[in-house]
Amino acid sequence: MYLRFLTKLKKAFTNLILYWCFLTSSISFSQTLQEGIFTEAQAARGAEEYAARCASCHSADLRGNSNSPSLVGLSFMFIWEDRNLGELFEKMSSEMPTENPGSLSQQSYAAILAFIIKSNGFPAGETVLASNAEALSSIQISSQ
Ligand code: HEC
Repeated sequence: MYLRFLTKLKKAFTNLILYWCFLTSSISFSQTLQEGIFTEAQAARGAEEYAARCASCHSADLRGNSNSPSLVGLSFMFIWEDRNLGELFEKMSSEMPTENPGSLSQQSYAAILAFIIKSNGFPAGETVLASNAEALSSIQISSQ
């Protein structure tokens, strides 16, 4: 009797653990911009790279001009919302800067991406933003 109870308890416990694994894995599968996905230092490095390589077209405040689109605010979110960071990284790192596409290191593109995310009002955290499109594709772009 007691043994049957123990077996049942063990089963229930195993199920609980399995369920917990399922929950946590489905949470980490899709991260959001609110979760502190870049570090402050990375964004600061990105700000310097941005000033040197991107600001001439997208302007120092990232708001763009009549030739180059804004990288912050509603118009930017309108285009990128519900897509993932991998797509944005791919776009930047393969097509920007327009006069010399792909000329920065992957780390520099990731740092600039961190700076762009920060400039859109999202918080820094403890983890460094990955510098490849595949890893970044599990992070959704969403304004809330
Ligand atoms: C010589 C001007 C120029 C420079 C320098 C430049 N860009 Fe661009 N960028 C553009 C233009 C023009 C577009 C719009 C056409 C396009 O999407 O290809 C654009 C589009 C973009 C987009 C897509 C925006 C959207 O909403 O679709 C991103 C992201 C971007 N640039 C990031 C960067 C980054 C990061 C750098 C620096 C590494 C950079 N750009 C440097 C001119 C420039």
